[in-house]
Amino acid sequence: MTHVEHLDIEGKFDKKRNMAATAPKYLSVWDIEAYYGESYIVQGVSFDIHEGEILALLGRNGAGKTSTLRTIARMDDPELKHGEIWLDHKPLHNMRSHEASQAGIQLVPEDRNIIPGLTVEENLKLAQIAPPKGWSLDRVYDLFPRLRERRTQEGVTLSGGEQQMLAIARALCRDIKVLLLDEPYEGLAPVIVQEIAKTLELIRDQGITTVIVEQNAVAALKLADRAVILDIGKVVYDGSAKEVLEDEALRSKYLAI
Ligand SMILES: Nc1ncnc2c1ncn2[C@@H]1O[C@H](COP(=O)(O)OP(=O)(O)OP(=O)(O)O)[C@@H](O)[C@H]1O
Ligand SMILES: [Mg+2]
Repeated sequence: MTHVEHLDIEGKFDKKRNMAATAPKYLSVWDIEAYYGESYIVQGVSFDIHEGEILALLGRNGAGKTSTLRTIARMDDPELKHGEIWLDHKPLHNMRSHEASQAGIQLVPEDRNIIPGLTVEENLKLAQIAPPKGWSLDRVYDLFPRLRERRTQEGVTLSGGEQQMLAIARALCRDIKVLLLDEPYEGLAPVIVQEIAKTLELIRDQGITTVIVEQNAVAALKLADRAVILDIGKVVYDGSAKEVLEDEALRSKYLAI
């Protein structure tokens, strides 16, 4: 098990040596601290992701998972006050959210954010308006045949699972390097969860790097290559997803499962 204490011993995230800043992995999150107003929420979070990897970012309610994703996507809230975020040698920490999106970070929020009054296809085309363009509609529809079938239907009238597929598809329509998913399985039947998990594997096979935040930790761990567990805004585990699945004590301590 690679506990963060071990990483500290190796000096991987040693603040003084500033390692992540000089030798970034594909996506390197280094000692980020983020605030909602005066509230100190993301308290020095560090992790790396390799290209084409799926990382499960887990933790109990209020652990700071959504806040961490929003910080990486460079949303205004929470405000990043310390640390660095590097994507493929580009400093995300110096960017605003639209610049991070142009650099290849695509956040699919928990509410899925499908635009009312627009069809499935219009939702996708809207995502392609601002350059640089991502996947073509054909490529997206090949991955999500259900969306091709429903392309003239209004997006918000789709089932929950189909809306999640549309939200992911829309992220692929932008120039994407890293997909950040916040609770993609929420409210979905197990059979639909499996279908989306299979699609996420296909997306990984096409070289996309994914961070998945999920309350359904078991489903996320089965999908993921690696896991990072947060507790009260700090990383308490960074290691293989399989080890978390097998370590009951760890799971009950930090995930309550
Ligand atoms: N807009 C906000 N303003 C102030 N505090 C916030 C805001 N959003 C979240 N918080 C607080 O930040 C902490 C982390 O919240 P966050 O939503 O990141 O947790 P989470 O791990 O995603 O939880 P959940 O599993 O419930 O989605 C919580 O204590 C929460 O109350
Ligand atoms: Mg959340």
